[in-house]
Amino acid sequence: MSILSPQALELNRLLKTQSETVYELLSAKGKAIYFPKMGILAQGSAAKGKEINATIGTAYEDDGKPMILPSIASKLLLDTKDAFPYAPSDGLKPLREKWMELTRAKNPTLGKTEISSPVVTCGVTHGLSMVGYLFADPNDQIILSDLYWENYDLVYSNAYGAELKFFNFFKNGLFDIESFGKTILSGPVGKKIILLNFPNNPSGYTPTRSAGKAIIQVLKEAAEAGNKLAVVLDDSYFGLFFEEDTMIESLFAELSQLHQNLLAIKVDGITKEEYAWGFRVGFISFGIKGGSKDLYRALEEKAAGAIRGNISNVAHPSQSLYLSSLKSESHQIEKEHNIAKIKERYLKVREVLASHGEYKNYFEALPFNSGYFMCIQLKDLNADKVWETLLNKYSTGVICYSEQKLFRIAFASTPARQIEKLFNNIYLACQDCSNL
Ligand SMILES: Cc1ncc(COP(=O)(O)O)c(C=O)c1O
Repeated sequence: MSILSPQALELNRLLKTQSETVYELLSAKGKAIYFPKMGILAQGSAAKGKEINATIGTAYEDDGKPMILPSIASKLLLDTKDAFPYAPSDGLKPLREKWMELTRAKNPTLGKTEISSPVVTCGVTHGLSMVGYLFADPNDQIILSDLYWENYDLVYSNAYGAELKFFNFFKNGLFDIESFGKTILSGPVGKKIILLNFPNNPSGYTPTRSAGKAIIQVLKEAAEAGNKLAVVLDDSYFGLFFEEDTMIESLFAELSQLHQNLLAIKVDGITKEEYAWGFRVGFISFGIKGGSKDLYRALEEKAAGAIRGNISNVAHPSQSLYLSSLKSESHQIEKEHNIAKIKERYLKVREVLASHGEYKNYFEALPFNSGYFMCIQLKDLNADKVWETLLNKYSTGVICYSEQKLFRIAFASTPARQIEKLFNNIYLACQDCSNL
């Protein structure tokens, strides 16, 4: 990396004095990035409210309103000022404040713990990518479960040259805490990046309360041993919990106050939580034990700089639309309605599996209790052949992980009335293929 800008150096100095851990966790790109406060943005903001403002890269009418095309504006109920001009690189301030308030409400364990303000990203994928930018150097290992969202390959390996290192997810129908511990605690003490996604894609698993405690204990041990940990929490499916003993708060709540050697990074968004897949609004929040306002401001600025250098800023209409939806009295009821619908499908899957003992001849479910998906593990069958038969003979599509002989079933997108048929079709396709 070439010589660092004075603004990056200043942020680094601040981070280093506030938290050696956070500074050490930064990648080379993360150390070099800064949010340009001088230059165009600063001069543009200095000119705000002046009689003549000839600084800005947005066209305005003579009366100061954004210069828009009515054929676009007429499709929106939003005021043109809330949709057409650029949003700030770190996101709309009221949206960030609201998301922070919601994060605290959904995770009461956070209490008044100081955490960063959420920085707005273009969906969760972009948030994860910005975390890679800030923390992952080429050949850094990222520790995660061996069942994972495949896009992590592109986000972390292709884009930043990081290496994914897996722990075994399940053992005897439970979270394999031994493998998790071994993977994290083995090897030399130093920087470690851990990526946890609960509810998990593809398995639909969220730790039970006791598994959650055990995970936290392992991370605590690793931090106490002197490791510097960046624990990334992909909370895309947060809130879709269907069983009593599931951990219903994000691990972020405890991890952000666990140890000075552990930086918790929560990446979440409105994509699944608010049923707004195409809106592309996500958030990155940081938390570390004893983290100060100055530390978080520096991290937020680094994140905003990375965003500025990648996509400049996130779509303004999406942010405003979601923000205004929160003022609606029916918003929460609408959400609960959708969760209930997905839960009904989840329960139907459980009922169908429980009432068809014969399925066990060909497949068994992996642990699942949350989210959009569940997986079945095929026994002694060629998964590709079953998948093809299922598609062509039974007109049924699922996602096949050939090597692991797994099918991922998206119950969240399947009407409850089709679920029995879906599993029966899988059973029949297995039967067909076992007779080959
Ligand atoms: C585990 C996980 N993380 C992130 C994402 C991406 O979210 P977004 O669409 O907001 O980029 C998905 C989407 O399928 C996902 O399953």
